[in-house]
Amino acid sequence: MQINNFSAGPSKIPESIIKEISKDLIDYNKLGYSVLELSHRSDEFSNIVNKTKDHLIELLGIPNNFEILLLQGGATFQNTFIPANNPEINNDVAFLLSGTWGIKTYNDFNHYFNSTVPSVSLQNQSIDEIVYEINNLKENYLCLTSNETIEGLQIREFNKFKNKKLIIDMSSDICSYKFDWDNIAYVYAGAQKNLGIPGVTVCIFEKKFFKDNNLTSYLNAQNHIEKNSAFNTPPTFSIYVMLKVLEWIHETGGIEKIEKNSKKKAKYLYDFLDDNNQKLILNVSKEYRSYSNIVFDFKNQKLTKLFLEESISKGFIGLNGHRNVGGIRVSNYNSIELRMIEEFIHHLKVFLSNN
Ligand SMILES: Cc1ncc(COP(=O)(O)O)c(C=O)c1O
Repeated sequence: MQINNFSAGPSKIPESIIKEISKDLIDYNKLGYSVLELSHRSDEFSNIVNKTKDHLIELLGIPNNFEILLLQGGATFQNTFIPANNPEINNDVAFLLSGTWGIKTYNDFNHYFNSTVPSVSLQNQSIDEIVYEINNLKENYLCLTSNETIEGLQIREFNKFKNKKLIIDMSSDICSYKFDWDNIAYVYAGAQKNLGIPGVTVCIFEKKFFKDNNLTSYLNAQNHIEKNSAFNTPPTFSIYVMLKVLEWIHETGGIEKIEKNSKKKAKYLYDFLDDNNQKLILNVSKEYRSYSNIVFDFKNQKLTKLFLEESISKGFIGLNGHRNVGGIRVSNYNSIELRMIEEFIHHLKVFLSNN
């Protein structure tokens, strides 16, 4: 049976990449040993790190006043790493809260600074209302989560917050669209959605963002910067997989092509869901609908469980909404093919006509 994996992360990896990885598991680069055995101090591994950074720079158009780190600890560690290494932002940062992950970041920042950081919650306001409210805050920095993976809510108009320096958790939509770096201070993303497998987190920040400090070894950003992300033993295999994914994005036609595909797939599914709104509920307002995670539910909630069961029996996996919100979540990451969305729509159509 063909499996269509729509999981929110760890998520589908393109088949061609899995094939390449399988070869490298046996013999990497004709060295006669596995990529799993590569020393993090070898030239081969330094090449992997440098090529990974070069691809990120090329694909995302990262300006040369930015630094890139590949760290462990997931996006969650960044919620401590950033405030620890930049205590100066303590009284100068505000939050735009649009969902679960942003709230977690906010709570960690508050805990770290032992104070209450100002925040604006996205409720029923339009992006222009939110922008107005935020641009009137005195704080220079703004933290936000570009794509709320659980709720399926996305904000991409970073330039609208022109008088703020943005710190963005991009874990579930990095490398799915291009953006301008003019008002970006820091972007971070766990790899397990659009960039491969868990274990490594990409951090891209203005070189002047971190100052010297006395923090202990792993927590201290300067150590990672000085040692080119190999201060201690890095997650070699996760970084290698990220390089494979970035090479695949490059060969696919770059971020512009990825973005076009992503919009096309998302529109196709949202149009179908809207056409069936007598039976389906979509809670996120159109303006904020995510291209990465498409979240909906059945009006008759008894159907949710039945649909998930039937989906699994037909090879559609990873569709259950996050345990906090329930419902259905179709993750439309870069690796998801149009064919998969078409087959999913067909499957849902048949289910709706039978129920
Ligand atoms: C937007 C977002 N931020 C943060 C996280 C937490 O990431 P990690 O588990 O890598 O710490 C996730 C996990 O799915 C996420 O989707």
